[in-house]
Amino acid sequence: MRDASPQTIYLKDYTPPSFEIEKVSLTFQLFEDGAQVSSRMLISRASSSDESSLRLDGEELELKSLKIDGRELDVHQYTVEPESLTIQAVPDKFELECVTWIKPHENKRLEGLYKSSSMFCTQCEAEGFRRITYYLDRPDVMSVFDTRIEADSAKYPVLLSNGNEVDSGKLEGGRHFVTWHDPHPKPCYLFALVAGDLYCQSDVFERASGRPVALEIFVDHKNADKCDYALDALKRSMKWDEEKYGREYDLDVFMIVAVDDFNMGAMENKGLNIFNSSCVLAKSDATTDNAYLRIEAIVAHEYFHNWSGNRVTCRDWFQLSLKEGFTVYRDSQFSADMNSAGVKRIEDVNLLRTAQFAEDAGPMSHPIRPASYMEISNFYTLTVYEKGAEVVRMLNTLLGDEAFRKGSDLYFERHDGQAVTTEDFVAAMSEVSGRDLVQFKRWYDQGGTPVVKVKSNYDEDKKQYVLTFEQSCPATPGQLKKEPFHIPIEIGLMLADGTQLPLAQADGGGSWVYELRDSMASVVFNDVPSKPIPSLLRGFSAPVRLHYDYSDQELMFLLANDSDSFNRWDAGQNLALRVLQSLVSRYQAGEALTLDPAFVDTYRSLLNDKSLDRAMLGKLLMLPSEAYLVELSETADTEAIYHARQFVRRTLANSLRVELLELYQSTHTSAFSLDLSFDAMSLRALHNFILSLLAAAPNDEFYTLASEQFDTASNMTDSFAALAALVNAENPAAAKDALSRFYARWKDDAQVMEQWFAVQSSSSSFADLSHVKALMGHADFEMTNPNKVRSVIGAFCAQNILGFHDVSGSGYEFLADQIIALDDMNPQIASRLLTPLTRWRKYDAARQSLMQTQLARILAKSNLSKDVQEVLEKSMPTNQ
Ligand code: BES
Ligand code: ZN
Repeated sequence: MRDASPQTIYLKDYTPPSFEIEKVSLTFQLFEDGAQVSSRMLISRASSSDESSLRLDGEELELKSLKIDGRELDVHQYTVEPESLTIQAVPDKFELECVTWIKPHENKRLEGLYKSSSMFCTQCEAEGFRRITYYLDRPDVMSVFDTRIEADSAKYPVLLSNGNEVDSGKLEGGRHFVTWHDPHPKPCYLFALVAGDLYCQSDVFERASGRPVALEIFVDHKNADKCDYALDALKRSMKWDEEKYGREYDLDVFMIVAVDDFNMGAMENKGLNIFNSSCVLAKSDATTDNAYLRIEAIVAHEYFHNWSGNRVTCRDWFQLSLKEGFTVYRDSQFSADMNSAGVKRIEDVNLLRTAQFAEDAGPMSHPIRPASYMEISNFYTLTVYEKGAEVVRMLNTLLGDEAFRKGSDLYFERHDGQAVTTEDFVAAMSEVSGRDLVQFKRWYDQGGTPVVKVKSNYDEDKKQYVLTFEQSCPATPGQLKKEPFHIPIEIGLMLADGTQLPLAQADGGGSWVYELRDSMASVVFNDVPSKPIPSLLRGFSAPVRLHYDYSDQELMFLLANDSDSFNRWDAGQNLALRVLQSLVSRYQAGEALTLDPAFVDTYRSLLNDKSLDRAMLGKLLMLPSEAYLVELSETADTEAIYHARQFVRRTLANSLRVELLELYQSTHTSAFSLDLSFDAMSLRALHNFILSLLAAAPNDEFYTLASEQFDTASNMTDSFAALAALVNAENPAAAKDALSRFYARWKDDAQVMEQWFAVQSSSSSFADLSHVKALMGHADFEMTNPNKVRSVIGAFCAQNILGFHDVSGSGYEFLADQIIALDDMNPQIASRLLTPLTRWRKYDAARQSLMQTQLARILAKSNLSKDVQEVLEKSMPTNQ
């Protein structure tokens, strides 16, 4: 049987550290059968502390030697436990020397020091450093690090750590060493080490102050031609952060290393970012536009952490959103500036509403600053990240750009070199603006997605228009009742002639930010000449579910006329949702499906609208996803959702074939060199969206077009889109042929192979479990590589709704099998993969019980990791 429940850690129990570590010198001696880590730490008792013994964190370490001020300690002077080392009666100030032996080559968790193919690398956030050596592994202990690495010269010519290189030389036995010094005190979660035989592409960035920084990207030699784009994105990020936030880089060198085995996307280690290969490597014929955009965003995100996270760090892990929410907000602003603000906003809101809202309504729901956790790795969530970014965005909206920038300047200056809290961040924002943000801070402590109901009334005689707002927030685990939130609601009032009312409150333009603070409130607008159509929550100004009872005509009006591009798009989504939801009901009732001709007309006029910019058109044509339909359902009928949506796609393809083909042809680009401008990407996105829609009603012409595109594409976006269309057309022969040709061409490119796996496991053409199992048996699949696990198992369970939710329960059993297998290897990945099973409440009684059976089966596994155990316990029916 499993151990007792893992311990819960509470924010309210926070106490400052009893000891400080001023300086730490580390020596790593790397060998094939293990690594010896020697540390020398200058430790002093905090002035506020009278704690006599020192407790250090450490896991799976073999202690070789322990000295205080040069004298080896007796075994009775310290106690080693599975997760700690406690030394009794230590002096006020002393030097602690500690030697441990670790086994990186056996580390499949990918936390701490591990091997990814032939190189050594580290991942220390959040609590990986304790797997390297005994230490005060908490973010409020900041020290200056010196790191010496010794390894075989031939196998590991490149030896990297944080900061600047200060020494290097030869050692006996074909070995060598390099020493690094990082002058900036940092918490150990930002420590990094890399050793390997790597290609280095370098460049120089000229800082605003004039000092140059060396930029270096290290990759496997076979990827030498995949560094250009990330390097370019890095330079643009550095420049942007100087201009937009006044933040300059602070070391002589900035390094990025690509590793194949990585749990997350990338990590902001000081001066030495480590990236999942899939989030940094790119070249024109092998990388899709979406991958380019993702690389640009992640490079920026990790770079921006140098200030929002590293120079100013978190006091404790409850404050995670302080660095992640703010940095996601910063990277979203960057991507908006590099590409299109309107499109970026639509994409961010789409993710928020489908996935974060679902998380907020599920068993793991938590505020952006959680009050407790068992395993912190489980809290790197969409809530902390995406909702966290929305909260920062609301501050920006409430304060305006100028005050927001002043607030950010004050925050960085005041807290430079400190480990702080979200309170400190809000305090800086409040101080510069003179705004009372006390109520606003509820966003940090209250979970759940607020619901805002809006009603309107127009008094023809008085020419008066009244909007009434009512807010509420559903109960979430541990929080039954919520206090009202401070919600910025951006409003415009559209008149029937397409103009908007100049709102008295608005400073120019027609948009005004109304601040809802009470459970119920209303606003009166005077001198309103005729009944307006309200455009509410413009730009999605707050992460809430807003309800207003629009007529179809009003939605069509907003779709055609709203001056706010987000609300235009949203009006279209709402129209499509109505159509889809009513078809879902008809499907469930066994009625014949028919598509409302008005909807086809609306779609046709979008296709014909030459004035719409192509990027926006691409977004407007997108139908709400299956996942969003599931999220909006009380009880989600996956089959009905799938078939209703396919019916709409098929009918649109058939009824609008002429228009679609025309647009497909007119968006064709035949550039020989890949144009990565946003306009070119938007054209490709539109072109390929049409192909995917035509795949829903494939005829001979479709096969001709798709095959031709597949054969002649000069870039991965077009080539992969053709492959996906052929795979999704539900024609096994065509799919098989395209897949095998694509494989033959790209089998040596790991990043492309990840896509090749994912397009199959997520496709309804392969809803049968046997296909996914066959992919897992493929020579290129590895259970120890998180990217492959995500591409095959993750994609099937999260995206293949027909396959995963098969009424037999086989999909659920399959996922449980995989989690049980992964849990001993890589608990972080096992725990993340578990998410779809925790959402059992969304489904019918039969599926609920099948899912619960599998949750119980996983819970019965012995030696279950803390990660999986926490998620299971919180999602079992008995615990809710
Ligand atoms: N600090 C995180 C990486 C991380 C998360 C390490 C959890 C260890 C545990 C990094 O800054 C990050 O947030 N990465 C994101 C990508 C980003 C663009 C949102 C990721 O890895 O997904
Ligand atoms: Zn981050």
